[in-house]
This record gives sequence, C-alpha cells and structure tokens, in this order.
Amino acid sequence: MIKFYDINKQDKHLHNTFIGLLRKHFKKSDFILGQSVKNFEINFSNFTKSKFAVGCANGTDALYLALKVLNLPKNSEVIVPAMTWVSTVLAIVNNNLKPILVDVNKDDCLISLSEIKKNLSSKTKVILPVNLYGGVVNIKEIKNIIKNKKIFIIEDSAQAHGGKDNFGNNIGKHSDLSCYSFYPGKNLGCYGDGGMITTNKNKFYQKIIKLRNLGQKRKNIHDEIGVNSRLDSIQASLLNLKLKSLKKFNLKRKNIANFYKKNIKNNKINIIKYSKNAVYHQYVVLVKNRKSLIKHLEKNQIQYGIHYPNPINKLKCFSKLFKNKKFVNSEYIASRCLSLPIDPVLKKSEVKKVVKVLNSF
Ligand SMILES: Cc1ncc(COP(=O)(O)O)c(C=O)c1O
Repeated sequence: MIKFYDINKQDKHLHNTFIGLLRKHFKKSDFILGQSVKNFEINFSNFTKSKFAVGCANGTDALYLALKVLNLPKNSEVIVPAMTWVSTVLAIVNNNLKPILVDVNKDDCLISLSEIKKNLSSKTKVILPVNLYGGVVNIKEIKNIIKNKKIFIIEDSAQAHGGKDNFGNNIGKHSDLSCYSFYPGKNLGCYGDGGMITTNKNKFYQKIIKLRNLGQKRKNIHDEIGVNSRLDSIQASLLNLKLKSLKKFNLKRKNIANFYKKNIKNNKINIIKYSKNAVYHQYVVLVKNRKSLIKHLEKNQIQYGIHYPNPINKLKCFSKLFKNKKFVNSEYIASRCLSLPIDPVLKKSEVKKVVKVLNSF
C-alpha cells in the first residue's frame, strides 16, 4: 500500500527525543503555554521572517483571532475564495462579518485577482486569500488593487508553511496577518491540534497575545473579551523539534512534485499549476472521470485525497448566504480534483509506481 501520508515514518527519528521531552513536561507539570510555546513562537517567527508569532489552539482559531483583532463593525465585508477549507469562511461568519465569495483561477486554484477587483466595495474591510495546496498568492499584486484604501490582508497559510511568493518574499511579508495550522497532516504537523498567527505589527501582536488567553496577558488581569485558544506546551515542544526538518521535507515534496510534473503523461489527467516557490502541501490533479480514477488507484493500492469535493457555496451550513451564486472554476475544480501522495518520506520506487499507474489510466 502506498500511503497518502505517514506521520509515524516522518517523525521516527524524533520519537525517542520526544518521549524524553514528555517526561520533562510531566515532571514540571508544564502543559499550557510556558517556555516551549515561547520558544516555538520565536523559532517560527524566525523561520517565517516575521516579527511576531502567537501560538493558538488550531488553524481555525488562528483565522478567528486574526479577524477578531481588527475589531471591525458587524457585517464588514471580507473577500475570500470559494475554493478553500470550511474554516476560512467559518472564521469570518463567527466574527459576525460578511464573507464575499469570489472565484479562483482555473489553472492554479488560487483567488482570482480580477474577481477581487470586481467585488471590492466601500464595505470591504479585509481580503483573505488562501495559499491553497501550498501554492502562494502574490499579495503584492493584491496590494496594488487595494491602493490606498484601508483594507487589511490576512493570509490563510494553513497549507503553506515555509512558502514564498513569486518574488521570493516569505509569506506574511506584505500582509497584515498570516494564519497557520499544525493539524497532523500539514507540512508542519503536531500530535493533536495547534495553530499560529504571524504578523509584523506590534499592535496586533500585543492584542492577540491577550485574546488567545481569555483576554489576559498577566494572570487575572483581563483587558479584552478573549477566548481560550492556547497552544499546548507539549505540542510546542514537538513542533520545536519538527521545525528543524521542515525545510528538508518541503524540498522533498518539491522533488516529488517535479517528478510528477515531468512524468505524468496522460491526456485524461491535468496537473494544476503551482506558484514558483510553492511548498506542495497537496499535489492536485484534475480528472473528468474521478470515480474511475479512484477505482484504478484503489485496485493498485494507492491512497489518495480529495481537497475538496465541494466549494464553499455548496456547503449546507452556508446555503442561505450563497444561494443561487455560481463559482464556475471552483465548482469545476471541486468536481475533478484528486490529491496524489506527496509525503516527503515516500520512496522513489513508490513515486514511480504512482506515475506508472496514472499513465496506465
Ligand atoms: C486552508 C485551511 N484553512 C484553515 C484550516 C484550519 O486549520 P485547523 O484544522 O488547524 O483548525 C485548514 C486545515 O485544516 C486549512 O487547510
């Protein structure tokens, strides 16, 4: 069986060290925030070349907190792509803001710049692009569209740890806030839930530090109406260890992606376009007859993923919000997308087998 992803294999070299660290946490009763979280925040801000990083409970909360810190009037408009994971839009709705869905490009599945332009209004307060599948949006170009208007940019980078835009800028350089998830299957994943917000703005940092911890910076001093969204000390210890392998693993993903791009040769299978410095969280192909490709993969013992079978406008929970709206490219991608294994620990022979099986479809 070729696995879709294998976190046990990825982390095997760290297991003993991690178990040693766990014992330290037990001894010190060190479980919430603490030094390991501080260290990870520093290490992650260095890694992303951002001034500040704040750990939180998960990527969904990272988005929620990034929007909350802006303190926007109710129903302010947030422009967001129709093709993303549900969390991006939940964070908007749960802040009493209004999601304005826009379509993505058919080739790279990233938010369409012309659709942003079309949907800008006097109520637009935030643009929330998603660095989907590890591809990176060019925020510089979005900034050109905004010009001098007071519109914030928040990046959903849950799938793009370590990504850079086409100009070589780290994610977060040109946006106000960038949000990460450490869900186990991510490029940097922990053993439970975890998230992070990065920013270069001290004002946001100082407030999010409080918001994620029940509104307090010091114990029992509650300055803000906050939430309980803290990163666990144990997860932070693990993430500190795993962060050291992230660059190497992202490079392995890139090598597998290059191999797929070069060798998958089948008219029935289209490969999506990745930005220059993508980190290949998923390797997505588009296929008309997905059901039969799935059968073919299953017969050949190859695991796969679908990210995602429905665009946001088709989800029942949002049915009132986006009734009768159509997003042609997002719907096209959702009906055809299939993610191939791109685990950094895949063997060359396994990657070759995936290609062979795809080419024989
Ligand atoms: C694009 C995107 N946004 C947000 C999230 C939410 O992250 P989490 O699962 O950590 O809440 C995820 C991950 O699942 C994601 O892929």
